[in-house]
Amino acid sequence: MAYVSSPFVILSGRWKTSFVSPCCTKKFVARWAKPHGMPSRFLITCATLLSEKQRTNLDFPHPLVDKADFPILQQEIDGKPLIYFDSAATSQKPKAVLEALQNFYLHDNANVHRGAHTLSSRATEAYEGARQSLQRFIGAASREQVIFTRNATEAINLVAYSWGLQNLKPGDELVLAISNHHSNIVPWQLVAARTGAVLKYIDLDDQQQDNLDTLKLLLDSGKVRLVSCCHVSNVLGYINDVHKVIQWAHSAGALVLIDACQSVPHIPVNVTEMDCDFLVASGHKMCGPTGIGFLYGKQHLLESMPPFLGGGEMIADVYENYSTFASLPHKLEAGTPAIAEAVGLGAAVEYLQSIGMDVIHSYESMLSEYLYGQLSTIPNITIYGPKDVKKRAALCSFQIQGIHPSDLASILDLEGVAIRSGHHCAQLLHRHIQGSDGMVVMGSARASLYMYNTKEEIDAFMVALGRSIDMLWKGGAL
Ligand SMILES: Cc1ncc(COP(=O)(O)O)c(C=O)c1O
Repeated sequence: MAYVSSPFVILSGRWKTSFVSPCCTKKFVARWAKPHGMPSRFLITCATLLSEKQRTNLDFPHPLVDKADFPILQQEIDGKPLIYFDSAATSQKPKAVLEALQNFYLHDNANVHRGAHTLSSRATEAYEGARQSLQRFIGAASREQVIFTRNATEAINLVAYSWGLQNLKPGDELVLAISNHHSNIVPWQLVAARTGAVLKYIDLDDQQQDNLDTLKLLLDSGKVRLVSCCHVSNVLGYINDVHKVIQWAHSAGALVLIDACQSVPHIPVNVTEMDCDFLVASGHKMCGPTGIGFLYGKQHLLESMPPFLGGGEMIADVYENYSTFASLPHKLEAGTPAIAEAVGLGAAVEYLQSIGMDVIHSYESMLSEYLYGQLSTIPNITIYGPKDVKKRAALCSFQIQGIHPSDLASILDLEGVAIRSGHHCAQLLHRHIQGSDGMVVMGSARASLYMYNTKEEIDAFMVALGRSIDMLWKGGAL
């Protein structure tokens, strides 16, 4: 699989559109790139050089990735080609990741860090190599700042129990967002109950994004120790202004944890530029295997935190009544880690980088705009989150009046379309919208896309959706 060389990808991120004549770029694409058989990825990168207005006039690009990279997507469900629109729940895995897992077990499998034999050194090299790939991918300054966990949930629990139990005292405030995933609410509730810390919530603004005015007011108390919110909402689809959140929180003396589960797979993320104190994500949403995720933390914070779990791998010396601990990152990784899964995540990161996160983001922005525009044409639909498509990632949660989201998802499955229905682990959010929006049932249907989806799939989804709505209306759903 040949990818476009990285300089072009870098250009797309760095050039300001005003410096480049869109006309020149179009001519360049038409006269040079197309005749020279440049892959669609390159053309998409060129598209990012055009102004917004020009970009909407541009023909929709060809698929970004070769579907052959994702064997699972080449199947039929009930005789219909599978359209997988559930990537916010978990992404599909490219062959490169499957092969990395298989190769690890076929050739290199052994436990890490403590063996003198060849297989153990190979396994250790592969595991630590994956950490380094991830470190570069998220722009962390050192490998010690990347802690492997089972998933994002475990990473948040690690911070809550390790940092939280050590630092929180009665009356301290933790600011969460009403839009947070349960994994970024429940651990804080448990730790607040043990420390006497108080939970405060950011509500939604009139665009159904995190209300940063509320954040500002909450920070005024001077008691906030930590703000924890998402980068991209898994229900409302907005891209949060995390730079503002972090800047404001730091000015008020609070730390910030960013839940990047729905951003790291889709948009360029650089933790050093972002200046977040902690950031978490799950491997399985970014083309990697299940059972692996990570925590990024600022070095001085991770160093000051006590171990989350005790056991092998995380110790320096063990005595009868106490132990001393290994240095980072091992202090926070007790027991045999998910070695093959980490190697798989390393391969996923390399796969994403070979396409380019700028390119993925540009392509998905076009998918996002198209999906939102198409869904908006359906009568009696409510699409949650901001109406401004520039603020949205490629996912739409929606309700259609008179139709239960779960019925819709089941009927769409008969059409080969996989979408999710329910509360998407965001009951607080759904309850909140239900109050303000007259939501009929507490839940929504969600179509979430990734770089392997296409405009043609959105078209097929819309046809299937139309048929499903007809069928449910005739059946007198709800
Ligand atoms: C925004 C967000 N945060 C956290 C999670 C939890 O991820 P995991 O279950 O992999 O720990 C999810 C999963 O859907 C999510 O979308």
